[in-house]
Amino acid sequence: MCSSCHGTKWNKKALGRSKIVSQMTHAEIATALKGYKAGTYGGSMKAVMKGQVSRYSDADLEVFSKTIGK
Ligand code: HEC
Repeated sequence: MCSSCHGTKWNKKALGRSKIVSQMTHAEIATALKGYKAGTYGGSMKAVMKGQVSRYSDADLEVFSKTIGK
């Protein structure tokens, strides 16, 4: 479900706005996902991502972030 915006290989700029997630490190992705949930990270479209991550725990986001990026 993330792939509709980010691409199946995390290689698209979501809605023309995000960084290319496949080029981010695991740590950067963890910071981003937890930050979107907490409201402390992101740009003009961060509300889009808050809706994506708010149902997950920080621990889940931490584990998930290690499965994508580099
Ligand atoms: C409706 C489209 C959409 C979906 C679905 C979506 N994203 Fe995003 N994502 C965005 C946008 C737009 C941004 C940039 C938001 C901003 O900060 O302004 C973003 C940013 C990000 C970033 C940080 C990149 C950066 O620019 O710093 C990560 C990591 C990320 N998304 C992961 C995910 C994950 C994981 C999922 C699935 C659980 C997901 N996204 C689903 C649109 C989407």
